[in-house]
Amino acid sequence: MRIAVISDIHANLEALQAVLSLLGRLRVDRYVCLGDFVGYGANPGEVINLLRVMCDTAIMGNHDAAICGQMNFDHYYGEAREVLLWTKEAMPDDARRYLSELPYFRVEGDICWVHGSPVDPADFHYVYTLEQASGLVRHYDNLKSITFVGHSHLRRIYEIYPDHALEINVDNFTMQESRKYVVAVGSVGQPRDYDPRAAFVVFDSGERRVEFYRVPYDIDKAAEKIINAGLPEFFASRLYSGS
Ligand SMILES: [Fe+2]
Repeated sequence: MRIAVISDIHANLEALQAVLSLLGRLRVDRYVCLGDFVGYGANPGEVINLLRVMCDTAIMGNHDAAICGQMNFDHYYGEAREVLLWTKEAMPDDARRYLSELPYFRVEGDICWVHGSPVDPADFHYVYTLEQASGLVRHYDNLKSITFVGHSHLRRIYEIYPDHALEINVDNFTMQESRKYVVAVGSVGQPRDYDPRAAFVVFDSGERRVEFYRVPYDIDKAAEKIINAGLPEFFASRLYSGS
């Protein structure tokens, strides 16, 4: 089965449409979303409406939790808080209800879908450095064979052993059944690796293979909507740099 794994859309409808258009041509069997549907972008309701019908599995992100009142966002920096408050007002009630019912993680056989670290998923710890991945070593026995994560907006593969972790830097990778992995799938709507193109993953569960994809999208349009909505300009300009 070929599974599209997307994350961190952040209300960027143009990026999501470009990703879904490419995925249509890549022939996938199902869609999984690892959370952060909203925050930063100008189309929270539209993004949720598209994904809620496409994804059979969807996970709660920290921005989603903040919108639903399941997480205190007082400690967020000013601009991020401003967008969250705007998003709360801009979103239809049923979209907010959809977010509020999302689980913090889901396990399917030997696979775990989660937004941040699989350890204490509601705390949304990051896994994007080798040091953070090495921190999972002491939880080795509780890790599933493959853990898919979002949250960092970066693309990473970590191989986790009982006593150490390794980072693997490739665009396509076949995972061995006898080993454990954490795969960070990157961000659709706000990449932070200085490549502004939308990022996502296709996972072939039969072959245990991940393929990382990038797709350009209409950044001008997404940025213009952010500015027209009166949201901080910073969230528009950073789309161009992918940072
Ligand atoms: Fe995010």
